[in-house]
Amino acid sequence: MKPPRLSVLSLVSLLAIGGFAGSTRAGDLARTRTPDAASVERGRKALTQQGFLKADWPRDAYEKAAKFWDEPAPDPKRDPEAYAARFRERYGLHPAPFPNDGLPLGLRLGLGPQGTKQGLQIDCMVCHGGSIGGRSYVGLGNTQLDLKSLLFDLTSAVGRRPPFSTFVINSARGTNNAGQIAAALLTLRNPDLSMRAFPLPLGANLPELDTPAWWHLKRKRTMYYDGRTDARSVRTNMQFMLGEKSLAQLRELEPTFRDVQAYLLSLKPPKYPFPIDATRRDRGQKVFESHCVRCHGTYGPDGEYPNKIIAIDVIGTDPARLLGLSDRLVAHYNMTWLGAENPVDTERIGYQAPPLDGIWATAPYLHNGSVPTLHALLDSHTRPARFTRPRSTSFESYDRDHVGWRFRELTPADVADSKKLSPFQAGFIVDTARVGMGREGHRFGDRLTEAERLDLIEYLKSL
Ligand code: HEC
Ligand code: HEC
Repeated sequence: MKPPRLSVLSLVSLLAIGGFAGSTRAGDLARTRTPDAASVERGRKALTQQGFLKADWPRDAYEKAAKFWDEPAPDPKRDPEAYAARFRERYGLHPAPFPNDGLPLGLRLGLGPQGTKQGLQIDCMVCHGGSIGGRSYVGLGNTQLDLKSLLFDLTSAVGRRPPFSTFVINSARGTNNAGQIAAALLTLRNPDLSMRAFPLPLGANLPELDTPAWWHLKRKRTMYYDGRTDARSVRTNMQFMLGEKSLAQLRELEPTFRDVQAYLLSLKPPKYPFPIDATRRDRGQKVFESHCVRCHGTYGPDGEYPNKIIAIDVIGTDPARLLGLSDRLVAHYNMTWLGAENPVDTERIGYQAPPLDGIWATAPYLHNGSVPTLHALLDSHTRPARFTRPRSTSFESYDRDHVGWRFRELTPADVADSKKLSPFQAGFIVDTARVGMGREGHRFGDRLTEAERLDLIEYLKSL
């Protein structure tokens, strides 16, 4: 039987299911992994120059997408740069920091017949390519992305009907439901990875998430927010290809994805670009040592990362991501080639305390991006229930005192009024009452004095 044509979402990368390291997780010190230089270079090329998926949209979908904007667009033929800038702003994309056929980071020319470049496709960097202070970085989570509008506009632009989605792709900008997209693809595969016409009822119900920075991977023994996957798993990164690739094709691509992983392990966070007050930083380091190190580890050349997964009742953050990964989905994943070497841990514990390298650059915080600044994270009473996200990642939108994005707190009435806004404008509003977007938990900074908190933030800038 001919496999069903999978939706546009089938082309999206990602995933949220993983495998277990095999040795103990909690309390085990993870060593930084140093990848082989030749492999890093092959991985960089594969990630930034090679398309892995068939083109999902003709090339001109890029120009035609503007039909759906609620504002006049620059002419893409007469003024391609102005059009490109508006396109990026519209969907929350960033300039590619490498040659990319005039396309923004995260879009690329897909594969046509005989491997020719043809038509458009999205790649890992649509979510894993962000910018801060006007510079783009591969591996910085994209906190501006409006994935849903991007997919829907490109599809509608070429006269196709966007597929009906049974789950929230993103309710606001910045978050995305990579996990449920991966889960949906897996329901269309049998344990031997042959295609199915009808989805298996695996019961996963994952929420939208903030995309984590890739530069943490080298410190981690286990990955993903729930820490249930061995960080060495290569195959877990290949799930996005389940929309079109056979098991034989996946096997053939595995060495390339081993190189891609080597490249991810080579990435480093950008340094905080403004002055840091050394006296306050040193005082802040003491605060960090007494309140934070046991979970988040130490930094600098001899830094040690404890790789702890904290039980949900202790961390207290939004449980939807943890609970949404169903046992049936995990069992199914583990039966396939994807999970054969590194099966997902069948135990559900909580969330992994992440390394904090480059934390200044990755606001908003927590796995769901529900907290706009470090200050609000460390004083839970001040976390806004509803707030606006900035329109750009320039330093004008950046709050150096509180570290994170400047925001405006909104009232329930503002949110009700937002129904009158265009979907584009409404996308800038984060409402922590939405499923999976709760701002609760992680109250470890609440008992600090304000002076200690500000010292601690000064230290965090230096990581
Ligand atoms: C649609 C957005 C999206 C795309 C596309 C995407 N990812 Fe992700 N990625 C995420 C999100 C969100 C998470 C966090 C998932 C979780 O933990 O539940 C994640 C997690 C990861 C992690 C684990 C990081 C950690 O420290 O735990 C790796 C590695 C990763 N992605 C690699 C890739 C690669 C390689 C690609 C392309 C082949 C890719 N991703 C494509 C959104 C995406
Ligand atoms: C008991 C363990 C524990 C302690 C103590 C702890 N944290 Fe955390 N921290 C976590 C976990 C687990 C998460 C992930 C929670 C989530 O995303 O839902 C986290 C998340 C964070 C984040 C957000 C990371 C991101 O990328 O969004 C920051 C920043 C942070 N912690 C800083 C601190 C600081 C500073 C302290 C000391 C005052 C501290 N933490 C104390 C466990 C802990």
